[in-house]
Amino acid sequence: MSGQSVSETRDARLAVVVLAAGQGTRMKSAHAKVLHHLGGKPLIRHVLDACAPLGAQHTVVVVGHQAEAVEGACGGYGAGFALQRQQRGTGHAVGVASDAKLRGFTGDVVIVYGDVPLLETATLERLVRRHREQGALLSLLTTMVEDPFGYGRIVRNDAGWLEAIVEERDATAEQKPIREVNPGIYCVQSGFLAEALAGLTPNNAQGELYLTDIVATAVGRGGPLVTEAVDPHEVAGINSRAELARLEAVLRQKVVALHMAAGVTFLDPATAYVDPSVTIGADTVIGPGVHLHGRTTIGRDCTLEGDAYVTDCELADGVRLRPMVVLAEAKIGSGAIIGPFAQLRPGAVLHEDVHIGNFVEVKKSEIGAGTKANHLAYLGDATIGRASNIGAGTITCNYDGFAKHRTVIGDRVQIGSDSQLVAPVTIGDDAYVATGTTVRHDVEPGALAFNPKPDQRRAGWVEGFRKRKAPAKNL
Ligand code: UD1
Ligand code: CA
Repeated sequence: MSGQSVSETRDARLAVVVLAAGQGTRMKSAHAKVLHHLGGKPLIRHVLDACAPLGAQHTVVVVGHQAEAVEGACGGYGAGFALQRQQRGTGHAVGVASDAKLRGFTGDVVIVYGDVPLLETATLERLVRRHREQGALLSLLTTMVEDPFGYGRIVRNDAGWLEAIVEERDATAEQKPIREVNPGIYCVQSGFLAEALAGLTPNNAQGELYLTDIVATAVGRGGPLVTEAVDPHEVAGINSRAELARLEAVLRQKVVALHMAAGVTFLDPATAYVDPSVTIGADTVIGPGVHLHGRTTIGRDCTLEGDAYVTDCELADGVRLRPMVVLAEAKIGSGAIIGPFAQLRPGAVLHEDVHIGNFVEVKKSEIGAGTKANHLAYLGDATIGRASNIGAGTITCNYDGFAKHRTVIGDRVQIGSDSQLVAPVTIGDDAYVATGTTVRHDVEPGALAFNPKPDQRRAGWVEGFRKRKAPAKNL
């Protein structure tokens, strides 16, 4: 499920047309339907990912509504675009694609709708294979659904042969209960397609050019027609937010099931949110409420205790994430322990066995093996060596209001609690910084840095203070 695949082996006799010009009115959204995300990426990319391994000579995406944004979402597939200015129906959309990009092409055309994200490559391959074996003019997938409302119904004659597809709004009372429906995925011989598209008329309830009408044309031609049954989940289209949420759940469970089959333990699969792009090593244990996104890779034998948000991170083997951590674009070495309540921001690079504890934030900093920052610290734009200890409340003061500056800390350094390191500053190997020190100048290796602060007393001061204050509080 990689995403960036222009296939190695090309099929010169195959073209793919993806219809994505519609607005998706029922989404009630300012964004085109195919741009809505499922499993962390736009719907249209799911469809393009399913099609890419077919290795089609041409991939054409029909765009219209928010054409530029949709084109922008289709990068990396080598797809061409055809602009359908007015959405005059699915048949019109395919015609626009053929005119713009498939002139002179004589092979087979796979047509899919851009809102069918769980479609699998193997299903498309099977459709194309059967189509070619039979020498069909037209082949299509069909599926059985509980509630056929909204779908084109597959109308068969008494002998069971395909006759036509009838849309919801054109269906008769006898046709409405038909539960075999059209998911909108076809393989069509290009010569026949051109001819059938030319014959389409908008004589239907929606006044559109229906691609589905080419089925009746093919029947009239008497050539072999192929229908392939497919699981309704796989070809479910998205028309509303409710359907988007339902497929999100289906996809999530599918992804988690794959990881479990590959040796990953999920304590509560229902609350694991793992993008299809994420990889996880065997014997890793994932607790409840874990969100793994983007290009995240998790090693073997890791423990993610729960409630973690991890985006574009690399975790080596044996990393432990305690609860409540937010990690983005961070790299974590083996045996490291992060959290509870910690944040790693972009550019955090932690070597082996680093400990980052509660309320510690790390940004754009490299931390050497075995170094610990266990409580209440901000480490930004820092380079920290091995086996150092960063005390509670340590702050790298990296920003002067104009630019960011670096803090460099050596190996085996002790930074006392509640210290401020005013960057740019370097603290040498084996140095000690005393508790509560504001370090403004470099500290040489092995030195102790401290700010002279007299530790003074005023005997009996409290009693006088309370007397002065009490009248104001009416005590
Ligand atoms: C279509 C099918 C229906 C099928 C259903 C499956 C037709 C006439 N009907 O109906 O048989 O059961 O899909 O989900 O084909 N689009 C364009 N340009 C247009 C019109 C549509 O690019 O002019 C695109 C849309 O963006 C969408 C896809 O084609 O991605 C399907 O369009 P939609 O309006 O959702 O068709 P349905 O009414 O669902
Ligand atoms: Ca639809």
